[in-house]
Amino acid sequence: MIYITGDTHGFNDIDKLVLNKTLASLSKDDYLLITGDFGGIWDGGMHDEDILDYYTERPYMTLFVDGNHENFDLLNSYPVEQWNGGKIHRITDKVIHLMRGQIFNIENMSIFTFGGALSIDKAYRTFGTSWWPEEEPSEEEYSEAIENLEKKGFLVDYIVTHAAPESIVRNEINTAHKLLCLDCETEKFLDKVLKRAVYRRWYCGHYHFDMDIPEHRLTVLYQNVLDIKTQNRVK
Ligand SMILES: [Fe+2]
Repeated sequence: MIYITGDTHGFNDIDKLVLNKTLASLSKDDYLLITGDFGGIWDGGMHDEDILDYYTERPYMTLFVDGNHENFDLLNSYPVEQWNGGKIHRITDKVIHLMRGQIFNIENMSIFTFGGALSIDKAYRTFGTSWWPEEEPSEEEYSEAIENLEKKGFLVDYIVTHAAPESIVRNEINTAHKLLCLDCETEKFLDKVLKRAVYRRWYCGHYHFDMDIPEHRLTVLYQNVLDIKTQNRVK
């Protein structure tokens, strides 16, 4: 089974995992997918070791797309491997980073992944210490995503991103939560994907609340942990 949740930010937002009895009962064949701001590749030291130990000791495999708050110097220093049809960084035996623009086949489900977003608090962060320009994807990553989607005719089972498409942020999300809309290239790109893709469900994180947008079959995740297939919440 595959379960999915929102931003974890290192130890800051993992109560939803620590307190979750369903997750504690999973097996090594199950997956937890985090929709970015994993925060376990951050200082390259004790903090990361403790976080990675936590995930490595879980019964399930942890997968994550990158958010805007990751240490991209460290993340990109891991060797790239092929895994289930797409490119990954293998962080530990039990923790895998699903790279941008890939389509994975996991448990007979095709899952398009595309991390990254613009940091709203960029002005308060330090280049190379708490902020990296790679938070927003490169032209190569946008192109690779489109190429991989075109190979599948833009038809996938699930889309998993950190940000949401810009039109959904401006309309549904902003209407409900009065977000400050930024000039986020990732959101603009995801709008292009939204116009062409055929999918069962789109999951994203980033906005730090849980919200269901039925007209776009899109679920914004933060505290909820859902079964990716049924969208049922597990506790
Ligand atoms: Fe976040």
